[in-house]
Amino acid sequence: MSFSEKQEALVKEAWEIMKEDITTLSLYFFTQVLEIAPAAKGLFSFLKDEEEIPQDNPKLKSHAVKVFKMTCEAAIQLREKGEVVVSGSTLKYLGSVHLQKGIVDAHFAVVKEGVLRTVEKGVGEKWSEEMKGAWSEAYDQLAAAILSEMSKEA
Ligand code: HEM
Repeated sequence: MSFSEKQEALVKEAWEIMKEDITTLSLYFFTQVLEIAPAAKGLFSFLKDEEEIPQDNPKLKSHAVKVFKMTCEAAIQLREKGEVVVSGSTLKYLGSVHLQKGIVDAHFAVVKEGVLRTVEKGVGEKWSEEMKGAWSEAYDQLAAAILSEMSKEA
């Protein structure tokens, strides 16, 4: 099924709202990820030696923002081109970072759940099954692109 204008609009709409409160939502995102998979703590340099999730860490925020922003870009590409096209050098970088950190398929599923919970929290009453579907699809396609690059490099 192709990605519709409506789906693209739902992803963009959510990101526009979330941007306003991205510091809080970045923390919420990592809280959810660790609630779903406590072991994921050991993967991140900015979490592994901490008792609690650091409240004001630029690396934490950067990872959260990248995941949301790139999912939003993936939605735009899916609607425009029917596929996710991450520029070659960016994709290579994403592939090698995650490969080096030992990230696997199952981690992407955990992060997906964290993304969906965070969008739900971020948009409040605008949340809908349709919005969830649009974010899921865009995230899945982006994750598939990164995983495919990782398998090429492995
Ligand atoms: C690093 C993006 C999924 C774990 C990075 C970096 C980017 C990035 C751009 C480089 C550092 C930065 O700018 O923050 C993404 C995107 C993802 C994704 C777009 C999915 C769509 C995941 C998943 C995991 C993960 C599923 C594992 C649960 C890491 C780790 C680092 C990293 C451990 C190194 C950061 C550090 O320890 O300082 N990611 N990532 N990422 N990513 Fe991801």
